[in-house]
Amino acid sequence: MDYQTFEHDVLVIGAGGAGLRAAVEASAAGASVGLVCKSLLGKAHTVMAEGGMAAALGNVDDRDNWETHFADTMRGGQYLNNWRMAELHAREAPDRVRELEAWGAVFDRTRDGRILQRNFGGHKYPRLAHVGDRTGLEMIRTLQDHGVHQGIDVHMECTVVELLKDGERVVGAFGYDRERGRFRVFRANAVVLASGGIGRAFKVTSNSWEYTGDGQSLAYRAGAELIDMEFVQFHPTGMVWPPSVRGILVTEGVRGEGGVLRNSEGRRFLFDDIPELYRHQTADSEEEGWIYTQGDKNARRPPELLTRDHVARCIVREIKEGRGSPHGGVFLDIAWIKSKLPNGAEHIRKKLPSMYHQFKQLAGIDITETPMEVGPTTHYVMGGVRVDADSQMSTVPGLFAAGEVAGGLNGANRLGGNSLSDLLVFGKRAGEYAAAFAREQPAAAIDEGQVEAAARTALEPLDRQGSGEAPYQVQYELQDLMQNQVGIVRNDGELRGALEALQRLQERVKRVEAQGNREYNAGWHTALDLRNLMTVAEAVTRSAIERKESRGAHFREDHLGKDEEWGRTTLVIKQGDDGAMELRRETIPPPREDLQRIIDESQKT
Ligand code: FUM
Repeated sequence: MDYQTFEHDVLVIGAGGAGLRAAVEASAAGASVGLVCKSLLGKAHTVMAEGGMAAALGNVDDRDNWETHFADTMRGGQYLNNWRMAELHAREAPDRVRELEAWGAVFDRTRDGRILQRNFGGHKYPRLAHVGDRTGLEMIRTLQDHGVHQGIDVHMECTVVELLKDGERVVGAFGYDRERGRFRVFRANAVVLASGGIGRAFKVTSNSWEYTGDGQSLAYRAGAELIDMEFVQFHPTGMVWPPSVRGILVTEGVRGEGGVLRNSEGRRFLFDDIPELYRHQTADSEEEGWIYTQGDKNARRPPELLTRDHVARCIVREIKEGRGSPHGGVFLDIAWIKSKLPNGAEHIRKKLPSMYHQFKQLAGIDITETPMEVGPTTHYVMGGVRVDADSQMSTVPGLFAAGEVAGGLNGANRLGGNSLSDLLVFGKRAGEYAAAFAREQPAAAIDEGQVEAAARTALEPLDRQGSGEAPYQVQYELQDLMQNQVGIVRNDGELRGALEALQRLQERVKRVEAQGNREYNAGWHTALDLRNLMTVAEAVTRSAIERKESRGAHFREDHLGKDEEWGRTTLVIKQGDDGAMELRRETIPPPREDLQRIIDESQKT
């Protein structure tokens, strides 16, 4: 078998915010680092976190602190979060943001020159450090600039298809370069997965082609556990028109800057339904356009900034009940703020430059004049590889995970802006602990048999020419199925139907063929991605069937409301000895006493 071999102390798979931050940290600790990106360096879903990174800097409201951020994150996640991760995240995010600034990130500023912070859903205070509506992009730019000077080896346009093990321990990875289709073996004492999410398992998504659940599936096949896979976040606002751009993200920053959602009757329908967790803290003031939350009139919030799961469901309700926009969405209006602000149009263009250009260029709409048409888009998966909160190591020695591919921090629903700070906090931790682990291990040995088996599996679609299924058709049917039957509103019948359909699709995946040769063969790449998509689709569906309640992003129309028992339960997925997917329930340990006190206090106000 012909392949190139690369050796690193630490191999990082995925080059978005978490991967870059992990690579920087491991490299700073003296490890030689290889960084694998599925596409070009800098092209990552991180840039789709546009509106900002959440960190309790207290620059705009000095009452903010890590405890409040922690409590907001737990409330947003409906208390299924790994509380230690939520604690570390809230405590460490401010330092990670300041560090990013020191490395060259140019944040928007307060009048007195500090990092400006904006409102976002579920955060009690303005907490999102931002760069207009291009925060993720600035983060990637900064980390990339920082990382390239540290001598990190970057392997661009390279897809990893299997992890390699030495006994129980992960010791490398096997992949191919997309350009020539040549195989690559990476030998490393520690591997960090930072490959992002699973959005491409659904038809309407903000995720681009790379996000096919690779990291989750690699980890699963290597014996790691996945948790909370039923919780898939549908961001309330994606573009709905024209069809070619359906799903592209419309940042929550629009609502953070005062954008309101209206139905076809011109009504702000979010006032119709304030969720239980926020209701006791709410005084309606529809005339003013605000609700007051968390007992604090100064922390007043519009209902558009309720959590994403809730806003997305309300939008779906309006559309279903015939009060949607002409192209199957609702209206998001930022133009109205012109009546409140001198130079309003200029203000909108300054605060939301990408949104202004996006709608102008893709939909022919000037958002300073006309409301946007928006609807939910699959954006993020809360579940993922189970990791130790402090070290980010998975249940398999030598295998670490950080960022979206890891589960735990966000529980049943992620607050907007928590992802960018998650990438920094846990990317750093993963890099640090992976470097330390790598240092302590004897040199890894690669098993040729595993390499050959991985290569054979990878070549199967090419070997089947003329006798198999078209990968694009199977992928399309999978996305359609997940969108329609495992989407925002779920029920037992549809979920079970989806599971059966997935089993039928699985048979077809075994027969997919790729025409042509190994050089830049998109059909072949799609065929190989399908295996991962199938794994995550099954994990989401099985977990969704099992959780018989509605919580956060998981909404069951046949089990409305939360169930106390499920509020203490997490679902764990693992590959069984026979290769079949196994699911088990696990009780979540109660938070440490001091953290429980913070939660209890937050619930009183
Ligand atoms: O809407 C947004 O800008 C997305 C942010 C996020 O997902 O954290």
